[in-house]
Amino acid sequence: MVWPGFKVGNVEVQTPLVLAPMEDVSSLPMRVIAKRIGQPGLMFTEFVSAMAIHYNARKTYRKLRIDPEERPLGIQIFGADPEVMAETARICADAGADIIDINMGCWVPKVCRTGSGAALLKDPDTAERIVRAVVDAVKVPVTVKVRAGWDYSQFAAPDLARRFQDAGAQMLTLHARFAKQGFEGEADWDLIRRMREVVTVPLIGNGDVKTPADARRMRDETGCDGVMVGRAAISNPWALAAISAEMRGEAAPPPPTLLERIDVVREHARSMVEFEAVESGEDISPAVELRALSRLRGQLPMYIKGEPGASQMRARLSRVSSLQELDDLLGEFLTLSAAAV
Ligand SMILES: Cc1cc2nc3c(=O)[nH]c(=O)nc-3n(C[C@H](O)[C@H](O)[C@H](O)COP(=O)(O)O)c2cc1C
Repeated sequence: MVWPGFKVGNVEVQTPLVLAPMEDVSSLPMRVIAKRIGQPGLMFTEFVSAMAIHYNARKTYRKLRIDPEERPLGIQIFGADPEVMAETARICADAGADIIDINMGCWVPKVCRTGSGAALLKDPDTAERIVRAVVDAVKVPVTVKVRAGWDYSQFAAPDLARRFQDAGAQMLTLHARFAKQGFEGEADWDLIRRMREVVTVPLIGNGDVKTPADARRMRDETGCDGVMVGRAAISNPWALAAISAEMRGEAAPPPPTLLERIDVVREHARSMVEFEAVESGEDISPAVELRALSRLRGQLPMYIKGEPGASQMRARLSRVSSLQELDDLLGEFLTLSAAAV
């Protein structure tokens, strides 16, 4: 059965699979690969600090670059000051965002200390003022990603959702954990079902979805309109492909061969280097390669996780400092794998 899509304001999301915003992961090169292979209906950028945009931080501006292939795309912003958030939203919309998403789920102390991210779950008045200011600032739809609440003592999300809808939010995503949990325990999907009772705009469920069966169960148990996938998609666009095929009523795609995975490792690394060069205004050089590859340190080994010999490769892949070295390592790995068969 084909899963219905949904609309976020005027933005059509045909396949209700959403790639999660992930700092240091869902950069432009990753998203282009995720879109081509995984075909999610909507994707989000890494979070963008409104304060950093306000102060013109070049490193943050690079997060606003969009490839036409990846649309529809939401740029996610975080901050605690309604005016600065509105200003940033305008800049992101001018950069071509189809949607502006407001982060109210990030629990890390560095973000929460400033009153941003999940700290806003404890300050509903400021949270609502931010949503209103951003909605007033841009023509594109505004969405909000929340956690269930700050801690177990209060499931704050339903009340906040009502206020955000009144303020003009056009989609809500619930990561079904409390901020204090970080990533501990399991996501409690029943919280998504309870959110469904108050949310009239599209509701996206999030937390611990890895497979088509998980996505189906989340939808069936909660009534959510779409499913957001984060960690399962890191170095694994094929996980998205399996879920989006299920949603389109298509047969499950075959799992990738080792060679296909290796090709994507190369592509991801190469496009990260090119991205780094363009954004820093430099030619490709050993320094540029090193900078780009160090951003992929955690991700490269995950592409071959589970393959025989992968654990020995892990440390070497995470230390790789040039495209040539990466090519040599992958060649060595393929030869070893072929010999092992
Ligand atoms: C490496 C990493 C970075 C993340 N960065 C963001 C972020 O920038 N903004 C955000 O709203 N959530 C962020 N998250 C949370 C995810 O969007 C998502 O809510 C969470 O991982 C739960 O989904 P999952 O179980 O499918 O991974 C991040 C998660 C991870 C693992």
